[in-house]
Amino acid sequence: MIAPANKPFLQLQSISKTFRRGGAETEVLHDISLDIANGEFISIIGHSGCGKSTLLNLIAGLTTVTTGAVLLEQHEVNEPGPERAVVFQNHSLLPWLTVYDNVRIAVDKVFAKTKSRAERHAWTLHNLDLVQMGHAKDKRPSEISGGMKQRVGIARALAMEPKVLLMDEPFGALDALTRAHLQDSVMQIHGRLGNTAIMITHDVDEAVLLSDRIVMMTNGPSARIGEVLDVKLPRPRNRLELVSDPHYIHAREAVLKFLYERHRYVEAA
Ligand SMILES: Nc1ncnc2c1ncn2[C@@H]1O[C@H](COP(=O)(O)OP(=O)(O)OP(=O)(O)O)[C@@H](O)[C@H]1O
Ligand SMILES: [Mg+2]
Repeated sequence: MIAPANKPFLQLQSISKTFRRGGAETEVLHDISLDIANGEFISIIGHSGCGKSTLLNLIAGLTTVTTGAVLLEQHEVNEPGPERAVVFQNHSLLPWLTVYDNVRIAVDKVFAKTKSRAERHAWTLHNLDLVQMGHAKDKRPSEISGGMKQRVGIARALAMEPKVLLMDEPFGALDALTRAHLQDSVMQIHGRLGNTAIMITHDVDEAVLLSDRIVMMTNGPSARIGEVLDVKLPRPRNRLELVSDPHYIHAREAVLKFLYERHRYVEAA
């Protein structure tokens, strides 16, 4: 079924999430609503523990809402699916498989009917090269560093060409150069595929560089969407040219103000 053009591609409808443990209940997310257009790049930013990963997991279908709904092309999301690939905050490779097989298993799942064996092999290698991990294709996760595992996780998600790419602090564990290189790769791939991306980040520059909109969350418990900032910078974007762009500077300042003045991090008691 083709979604009517006037309906949002991805809808978060009045979502709340309460975790129950024994007799205790904590409402982590409260009344989160957001309409996301097809092809949009959204960043979610907010202090540690406010519920960002929880929100991403709800969109991934890895956990269920307490109230409200996640709708993708008018269909309610309540389980994981290959059209929503996730790059996890803590790299999540299968330890018994090689780097190559960790990506290949996802490629085989998504492209079993549309690509030949040889094409799937080439596609796996291509995506490993994209994150500069081709050289380690025969290693196992225990033999590579945390940043390298993260890169394999990114390759696996990109290789699936998902409708929605969900990334939980994908570049957090990387050195500055690798981080910049991968940010550029993700921007290029997003530009080429036109898929929808939702990325959690703690990095204000990264959020402004990559996003069409930045969703800023208030501190938890019962975190809400505090503000949504439009980043109307033309694409393709060049990190060096942006440094002196007034709109870039303004966007950066708005996010910093939100995080460090209006919703300063308070360690929960
Ligand atoms: N499965 C769970 N059961 C109970 N509580 C949970 C569960 N998962 C998360 N929480 C709680 O929900 C809150 C939000 O956690 P979440 O991981 O979504 O935060 P976050 O914004 O991603 O933080 P960070 O920036 O540190 O990754 C935390 O207080 C956490 O302890
Ligand atoms: Mg998190």
